[in-house]
Amino acid sequence: MKLAILSRAPHSYSTQRLRHAAVQRGHDVKVLNTLRFGIDLSGEEPDLLFRGKQLSTYDAVLPRIGNSITYFGTAVVRQFEQMDVYTPNTAYGITSARDKLRATQILSRHEIPMPPTTFVRDRADVIPAIERVGGAPVVIKLLEGTQGIGVILAPTIKVAEAIIETLQSTRQNVLIQRFVKESKGRDIRALVVGDRVVAAMRRVAQGDEFRSNVHRGGSVEPVDLDPEFERVAVRSAQIMGLRVAGVDMLEGRRGPQVMEVNSSPGLQGVETATKLDVAGAIIDYIDNQVAFPEIDVRQRLSVSTGYGVAEIVVHGDADLVGKTLGESGLREKDISVLTLHRGITVIPNPRASHVLEPEDRLLCFGKLEEMRSMIPSRRGRSRKVKRLPKNPIDGS
Ligand SMILES: Nc1ncnc2c1ncn2[C@@H]1O[C@H](COP(=O)(O)OP(=O)(O)O)[C@@H](O)[C@H]1O
Ligand SMILES: [Mg+2]
Repeated sequence: MKLAILSRAPHSYSTQRLRHAAVQRGHDVKVLNTLRFGIDLSGEEPDLLFRGKQLSTYDAVLPRIGNSITYFGTAVVRQFEQMDVYTPNTAYGITSARDKLRATQILSRHEIPMPPTTFVRDRADVIPAIERVGGAPVVIKLLEGTQGIGVILAPTIKVAEAIIETLQSTRQNVLIQRFVKESKGRDIRALVVGDRVVAAMRRVAQGDEFRSNVHRGGSVEPVDLDPEFERVAVRSAQIMGLRVAGVDMLEGRRGPQVMEVNSSPGLQGVETATKLDVAGAIIDYIDNQVAFPEIDVRQRLSVSTGYGVAEIVVHGDADLVGKTLGESGLREKDISVLTLHRGITVIPNPRASHVLEPEDRLLCFGKLEEMRSMIPSRRGRSRKVKRLPKNPIDGS
């Protein structure tokens, strides 16, 4: 395949390793400086310029977009997507993952365990917010920090309040998050490629530092990942729309607690710690997927007037329960069921013989008018989220 690696750091360990792994496998690979692209929307079709000239044809692109150029970088990736060039990480995925609030919001509806987190703006809401996540000590995070910069542990509510006020006065938004004390300056970084974890390491913070980032002096060791950590890492990456991702998890008392999903994970630490060829796994994965460029399904399926995508939930009392998909009458109403979600399992292309159960969720394509009548009025709040204990921090 012909592969473009988007990177502003051609000599960095990660870029070098990826380039080398591609060359080794006989691929035609170029490292292109993300900032030298031009997005061309003047012709009949979406196009890209590189250093002022029309870009040649590529089969796949591997974006390594640094934090400082998210906007421009994701615009370039989005343009590749419009041109049907395969990318393991979409512009949408990269943008969503980069902002810690946005990522937490997206993950929060998918039963991904995360440290209790809250986001407020008004001064009057700060102390109650800290108490809601368990009180001090409490972690304060800038929304777009990286390498541990912008992650602060405030020992008391007073200090937390002062830090938050200072940051907000300089127009920086912050997350307030429970300090997962039992993780003791250690965390797990799992490298997800496609639908598996290809390598994992534990990072241990230096001295009394609580941040385990390698850039903060953290040391790394290989780790045999517990299946629960593996499952959570893969699901998190998948939900974020990232097929290459570094998922950071704290080792909480009850299991993994996802902190963030990185769309351009560094390879040096993890390859050194595990001696595994992570770069090779990434290149092989891309090579396997090249035929399937990302399609914005909703957008493409919504171009016929009156047709669109909707999720229909089978309710206990509805007349769908107990019927097979064939008997449901959906097809007759010009509605096709693309996937059936049951709990955490997904049945793609469900057959007509599938019997519907209460709470099944059907992702459908069809006539919006017909589907509208099947979508119940907005559901209220469900109480599946465990309430936090009244007393902040439980001492152990
Ligand atoms: N809620 C938390 N409880 C305990 N430690 C945390 C918490 N959040 C972050 N940390 C520590 O700080 C490090 C950096 O946090 P993270 O959210 O991953 O930000 P960054 O994007 O800067 O890496 C983590 O690797 C972890 O060691
Ligand atoms: Mg991190």
